[in-house]
Amino acid sequence: MYNRVRSMSDGVRWIIDGYEEWLAREGVPIVSGLAVDLLNVKTAPWPRLGANAAFVHLEARGDFCSLYICELPPGGSTERQRHIFEEVFYVLDGNGSTVLELPSGEKRSFEWGRGSLFSLPVNMAYRLYNASGEKPARLASVQNLPMVMKLYRNERFVFDNPFDFNERLGNERFLRGEGTFIPTREHRHMWETNFVPNLLTFDQLRVSNGRGAGSTNIMFVLADGTMHAHCSEIPVGNYKKAHVHGDGYHIFQISGEGYSLYWNKGEPYQRVDWTYGLLHSPPLRMWHQHYNVSETPARYLAIGFGSFRYPFLNEKRQTIERDYRVKSDIQIEYEDEDPYIRKLFDEECAKFRARSKATSLAR
Ligand SMILES: [Fe+2]
Repeated sequence: MYNRVRSMSDGVRWIIDGYEEWLAREGVPIVSGLAVDLLNVKTAPWPRLGANAAFVHLEARGDFCSLYICELPPGGSTERQRHIFEEVFYVLDGNGSTVLELPSGEKRSFEWGRGSLFSLPVNMAYRLYNASGEKPARLASVQNLPMVMKLYRNERFVFDNPFDFNERLGNERFLRGEGTFIPTREHRHMWETNFVPNLLTFDQLRVSNGRGAGSTNIMFVLADGTMHAHCSEIPVGNYKKAHVHGDGYHIFQISGEGYSLYWNKGEPYQRVDWTYGLLHSPPLRMWHQHYNVSETPARYLAIGFGSFRYPFLNEKRQTIERDYRVKSDIQIEYEDEDPYIRKLFDEECAKFRARSKATSLAR
């Protein structure tokens, strides 16, 4: 029965990624890499969205999520959007608003700007509007569209589905930018909401010394969904401890200056220098570490699949259950690190101080 060796040229449909096949038909630009500068990715019209877009496929994006950039022209808006995948938006630049249509037909809206984070209840219709008549607005959306499209492979089911998830609407305060703090334990405290008006000034981060001296952090529960986001802050003159975990995290550098190192044991370090709008992602089980060399705290935002409320993946559940205050094989304590790490960090801090001194003298 299976006596014929088939070649790809037989036209046999196999080893297919239903998401990538669908995306190719949409004709939207796709960029990829270990790290991508999201402010400088070229976009092109995406008729389905009604705005300019580009997809970003990080090498370590994993099996469930991808990112797209939505660029609204001055005075522009998206078409009405509705879909059964979940997404988290981060506003890279610009100002605008989101108008959400509830299943009752009632509308809710909120205004966002650079640094805003929001996630809408799944399959509720919405439009995004640019408030400026002069400047474009650029948002990044991390979503589980790859997972959903690989499962169903039917764009009408994904984008034109009348089912109402009324139970996802949540507290109406959450769409106004308010939230609820949910205490658990160090590095695991949560903030439930739909909308954080400004992550750059958000004041609900909590002490997370187990991940690095003086570090602070908050885990988000967004739209009662399976998409995860967290925001971490590295204090002045410090860095997080090196660690490993699963893939699929989309990391946005949102403040401060510094760099990240990536390495496999026994191999050379790969370095990524931060700029605002830089997106990077640690590959599966690859060691990595984030260093703040600036004289202000540095924040980053991480978005991925598998939330603290609904981890979905066994690997994610195990990660959440870990206590970083206890020594383990997934984190390198300061006293055990390669002396090169500290040497490089001290040199980079000195370079930053020299640069900022030169800049202030030139003023
Ligand atoms: Fe990490």
